[in-house]
Amino acid sequence: MAQKLAIVTGAAGGLGPAIATRIAADFDVVLLTDVHEDRLHEIASNIESSTSAKALVAACDVSDPEQVADLYRTAADAGSLRGLVNAAGIGMFTPMDEITPELWDRVFAVNTRGAFLMSQEFMRLAEAPAAIVHISSIGARAGNDMLAHYGASKAAVIELSHAIARGCARTGIRSNTVMPGFIYTDMWRHTVAYLQENDEALAGLTADQVFAGIVDQSIPMGRPQEPEDIAEAVAFFLSDRAKNITGQTLAVDGGAILT
Ligand SMILES: NC(=O)c1ccc[n+]([C@@H]2O[C@H](COP(=O)([O-])OP(=O)(O)OC[C@H]3O[C@@H](n4cnc5c(N)ncnc54)[C@H](O)[C@@H]3O)[C@@H](O)[C@H]2O)c1
Repeated sequence: MAQKLAIVTGAAGGLGPAIATRIAADFDVVLLTDVHEDRLHEIASNIESSTSAKALVAACDVSDPEQVADLYRTAADAGSLRGLVNAAGIGMFTPMDEITPELWDRVFAVNTRGAFLMSQEFMRLAEAPAAIVHISSIGARAGNDMLAHYGASKAAVIELSHAIARGCARTGIRSNTVMPGFIYTDMWRHTVAYLQENDEALAGLTADQVFAGIVDQSIPMGRPQEPEDIAEAVAFFLSDRAKNITGQTLAVDGGAILT
């Protein structure tokens, strides 16, 4: 029988390794991809030593159609395409009047065009039953004026998911979205560093204290999320337990946006 394969983009980031490790329990092969291929080998070897899945690595800039096509050639040779997790993303706090057209386009190129290119090729090649999970963000719904570019790009991903869900509903390919809340990965570490540089009220506080303050103010449950919390939601949407769920968006955020 063909080996069930899932692709995880952004696999070298803060969330990617936890997502890939969790879903390795449900797939025969996980294909880890990122622009930082060098960081993927250790993650793949940890997955192979802790699960029975095979873990492959490949470099891919998800915003580049040729690299995406190459990645799918690798995937097609390695198994039957059944899962895709669009986790690659970039984001940074930027005041509205400092967002240049180039920065706007770069954020959309990775977060939105990347999710589109990866999904379009998946829809062409996947063998049903199959599923896509997009990693959006509560930034898509927060109206944060420091995240106009990021929030808009992540809101677009939710509508992309809706369109795929409806378009593929009779083909056996499902599409759902997870909106993570606050996980202390590099993305947040850079944001905290930015706030420390730009907000005098934070003088004297450590980065961990700044992050803890943001969490306390923003999250009703009063605690940040862990990569494993996001991975669990992803695994659910990819699995047969969600066989009648498509076009949905789940916030894993301790109640931060309460939708
Ligand atoms: N950390 C959070 O609190 C949080 C909250 C909401 C949403 N998210 C989303 O979750 C996803 C993962 O975030 P993270 O916290 O792990 O961030 P991260 O910065 O740690 O990881 C992102 C990964 O994406 C990769 N990447 C960037 N551009 C790429 C490209 N063009 N092609 C392929 N890979 C690329 C990076 O190399 C990196 O490994 C992102 O989409 C992010 O927007 C994160």
